[in-house]
Amino acid sequence: MHINASIHRLARWFEAARQVVVLTGAGMSAESGIPTFRDGADSLWSRFSPQDLATARAYRRDKALVWGWYTWRMAVVRAVQPHAGHRALSELAGLKQGLSIVTQNVDDLHERAGSNDVIHLHGSLFASRCLACGKPSADTDVPPLAAQQPALRLMPPRCAHCGGDIRPGVVWFDESLPEAAWHEACELATQCDLLITIGSSGLVLPAANLPAMAGQHGAKVVEINPARTPLTDQADLSLQGTAGDVLGQLLAMVKA
Ligand code: OAD
Repeated sequence: MHINASIHRLARWFEAARQVVVLTGAGMSAESGIPTFRDGADSLWSRFSPQDLATARAYRRDKALVWGWYTWRMAVVRAVQPHAGHRALSELAGLKQGLSIVTQNVDDLHERAGSNDVIHLHGSLFASRCLACGKPSADTDVPPLAAQQPALRLMPPRCAHCGGDIRPGVVWFDESLPEAAWHEACELATQCDLLITIGSSGLVLPAANLPAMAGQHGAKVVEINPARTPLTDQADLSLQGTAGDVLGQLLAMVKA
């Protein structure tokens, strides 16, 4: 099917649905200039080792390396803006009361585009907390991107309450998802009529189970991604385009 016809079909499903879940991955932020994890030579896991940087073990082994890398990622996010796709999604949510955004992303671009109550399955770069007592840390000092490099070593700040080390507020590979966020995402996936997954490789569990969970409970499952993924053949509709393009066109069709 031609992509325009597919977006038209998605617009009809969107209008008919009572509950819509939008599940976003790193590809949602790609057009803002944030690198994805597994998509080409510039992606994070092609340049850096997750074992050295994205596990609790790695942090305990070398906290200056890990904190420096996350501070660089915070600076990257602070230096970019939401794109037209983030804004289109926020506008679509204004047109459909039962639309929920569940994201694997640790940036705040959905919120900065006006979306509220975003469910962050993998935590947030901007919710650092104490490794020892768990209390949130006050706004983390993020040097400007020009002064940052991914390999800059930086000691984490100390907790104002107990003096423990502050850690990034993201979920690491050897950790579980935040329980409340995961529970809510499962409830939404099993109750929605339409799940749209955008910009995810569908490789990281358990988030990658949500589209199948929705499909098993009767929802239509739609994928927006310029590349094929393990979900492409299982989706009811696959739109091979970028988040910015497809969401912009979808919004225009829903508003027409
Ligand atoms: P990946 O980097 O694995 O996949 C990004 C996907 O986005 C790929 O399928 C691309 O084809 C697609 N993509 C690229 N540009 C796009 C665009 N402009 N519009 C739409 N799609 C585009 O990212 P995730 O699936 O989000 O976890 O990765 C899942 C998790 O793996 C991350 O949350 C992170 C990582 O390890 C943790 O850190 C716990």
